[in-house]
Amino acid sequence: MSVSSRTAVVGLLGYPVVHSFSPYMHNAAFRALGMDWVYLAFNVEPRLLPAAVSGIRALGFRGVNVTIPHKQAILPFLDEIDPLAKLIGAVNTVVVKEGKLVGYNTDASGFWRSLKEEGVDPRGKRALILGAGGAARAVAYALVKHGCNRLYIANRTYDRARELAETLKKAGETSVEPLSLEEAFLASILPEADLIINTTSVGMETVGGELPITADKLEARHIIYDLVYNPPYTKLLKMASSKGCRAISGRSMLLYQGAEAFTLWTGREAPLEVMKQVVEELLPS
Ligand code: ATR
Repeated sequence: MSVSSRTAVVGLLGYPVVHSFSPYMHNAAFRALGMDWVYLAFNVEPRLLPAAVSGIRALGFRGVNVTIPHKQAILPFLDEIDPLAKLIGAVNTVVVKEGKLVGYNTDASGFWRSLKEEGVDPRGKRALILGAGGAARAVAYALVKHGCNRLYIANRTYDRARELAETLKKAGETSVEPLSLEEAFLASILPEADLIINTTSVGMETVGGELPITADKLEARHIIYDLVYNPPYTKLLKMASSKGCRAISGRSMLLYQGAEAFTLWTGREAPLEVMKQVVEELLPS
């Protein structure tokens, strides 16, 4: 790839970012379309987020993706928030429009598209979401919007689960119950749930921690979706497969949220096949 003095810059703000495959995916897309654009990953400590956002503006970036742990924290620093991102309460894509920073959420539709591709219909189902951060917000919104019957949100920090449950009242009719992470695995919740979705960073190569779940708690009828895509086969997904559960990786959500962000920045249709090939090569199933 050649970089010139006209190269348009987009990137990723996260902490950590080294696990991310977005740079490979977007740079391949720019190359395929012959665009003088580049996508870079920036490791931004939480305390430096305001400075990084000022940097986007000052350096004339065309936009950024936002990932863990900044998806909610970035909202106050943006000039405008798209109504959907506002409703969700999290931004994963920022577009610079005539000097103004506009926040969007492409995670919700990316998740929904991947779920459809997998043939999973949440209508009438009961889902358990692990985590209550920015990614959980988008996933929960998509499930409520598409007719999930009952939603449990379990988070290490209970107050965040409670806040998210409160936000979701505005999104639809689904009954939502906040829980602590331990409660989700101790009590009678797992037998209740059809779909279990990990939106926490636990399982990422560069992040520690353990989910308080063991294989004996899973049943073959459970569908397990792990948003973590690196490593492609997480401990949770291995556990799911060992019990005969359907195990879905976050790989296709990565693709679809990225394709939508690409279009928001460039105004062009994303070369989905190119992006998909990169993701599949780097993250074999
Ligand atoms: P993102 O925007 O990617 O969702 P985030 O908003 O920082 O990132 O959310 C990360 C999620 O992973 C949160 O639900 C977090 O739990 P807390 O709200 O208690 O911080 C969860 N998480 C991170 N590390 C964890 C760990 N070691 N064990 C359990 N949950 C963890």
